[in-house]
Amino acid sequence: MIIDVVTIFPGMFDSPFAESIILRAREKGQFQLRVHDLRDYCHDRHRVVDDYPYGGGAGMVMRPEPAFRALQDLRDSSFSGEVLLPTPAGEPFTQVLAEKLSTLEQLVIFCPHYEGLDERVSTLVDREISLGDYVLTGGELPAMVMIDAVVRLLPGVLGSAESLDEESFSPLLEYPHYTRPAEFAGLKVPEVLLSGHHARINDWRRLQALKRTFERRPDLLAQAELTAQEEDLLVQWRQHDNKLDEV
Ligand code: ADE
Repeated sequence: MIIDVVTIFPGMFDSPFAESIILRAREKGQFQLRVHDLRDYCHDRHRVVDDYPYGGGAGMVMRPEPAFRALQDLRDSSFSGEVLLPTPAGEPFTQVLAEKLSTLEQLVIFCPHYEGLDERVSTLVDREISLGDYVLTGGELPAMVMIDAVVRLLPGVLGSAESLDEESFSPLLEYPHYTRPAEFAGLKVPEVLLSGHHARINDWRRLQALKRTFERRPDLLAQAELTAQEEDLLVQWRQHDNKLDEV
């Protein structure tokens, strides 16, 4: 996969992709990151990327001309993928979307700044994406998060030790993990995990995942495939007004 990023802060992309799994993926050629400085697409002497908003109001707006030049350049005849625009006004970024994007050959991510981008640029954008209901200073951090989430899904990027099986959002939250020692700071690892009894361990993990999802992200339960017994548990938990320890 080729990922092109257009930004006024190219230096921000140096270190996050120069470590660990993502670096290994780059070195193995599993993905190529190309970072483009938006100011290189300005034709004026001062390389100005923003201007005052029509209609007035606070804040500056990114000018359409450099963005158009950059995106038209990247959307050339060989382009095969999607142009993404991080914005709090976009569709939510989810694991399902990350999976969809990971099947494409190329992604272009345009990072807006200031109060936003001249709306006409959206004619060159395939998808506007929000990382969550909060406002960041620019599109660079959302772009990095999306790149990380997509690249780890590319074939061969995760080794078997970091496998994609059983992870969060498929579709319950993940169960708690423990490693040695069996007791630390007076806190004990749950007995069942030391038992070596795989069926009981799986049951315990499933129950913990269900409990966590119920407490922290009940909205996810609607998409989960639950057994009749698990549905019964949910009914009981709801009756106990979220006080699971009493059940
Ligand atoms: N830019 C600023 N805030 C953002 C958010 N929450 N998601 C995506 N892009 C953004």
